[in-house]
Amino acid sequence: MNQLKILITREQIAARIVEMGRMIAADSAGEPVIFVGVLKGAAIFLSDLVRAVELQATFEFIGVASYGRVAAGQEATLAWDSTGEVRLTKDVDQSLRGKNVILVEDILDTGLTLTFLKRLLLGHQPKSFRVATLLDKPSRRKLAIEADYVGFTIPDEFVVGYGLDYAEKFRNLPDICVLPGVQG
Ligand code: IMP
Ligand code: MG
Repeated sequence: MNQLKILITREQIAARIVEMGRMIAADSAGEPVIFVGVLKGAAIFLSDLVRAVELQATFEFIGVASYGRVAAGQEATLAWDSTGEVRLTKDVDQSLRGKNVILVEDILDTGLTLTFLKRLLLGHQPKSFRVATLLDKPSRRKLAIEADYVGFTIPDEFVVGYGLDYAEKFRNLPDICVLPGVQG
């Protein structure tokens, strides 16, 4: 494999996750939390984050897929519901009613995925709802939504590694690297 340029090292990731874990615990007032990881990109981040939080914590996974390019004739539907590009492929296995939910994302980009999932999970009537994302690319946002906990804010570059993929590849790279020439 040719060498990809490292944007964030494994040591930087590990140190930041310790800080994020402390912030989450401090904000949780000793109450139990349930982390909901978005497959597959957030799986590695979630596995490190849950071990950095000194709280009674459990976790679930949820799966989404995007429809990709909009087919001719569907533009009107999307204008009405701009998260219509996203669909659920795996639901959580339990009700989140009355729970302290923390949605865990690998990267917040256009905001379509997070907006869709926030709406879905708020429908469970959790006691509280927060979002933790490892990466944030604010320059690409299409919908106004922010995370409560952000690991790193990054420029508009396509990144892979530490769970993030390009066509399912590179998820197992320990560092976050820039993949040149790819448009998000
Ligand atoms: P959003 O719905 O546009 O906010 O996109 C979120 C999803 O897009 C993430 O969960 C990733 O799967 C994917 N994504 C966005 N930017 C990148 C990137 O730079 N590298 C890899 N995946 C990305
Ligand atoms: Mg992906």
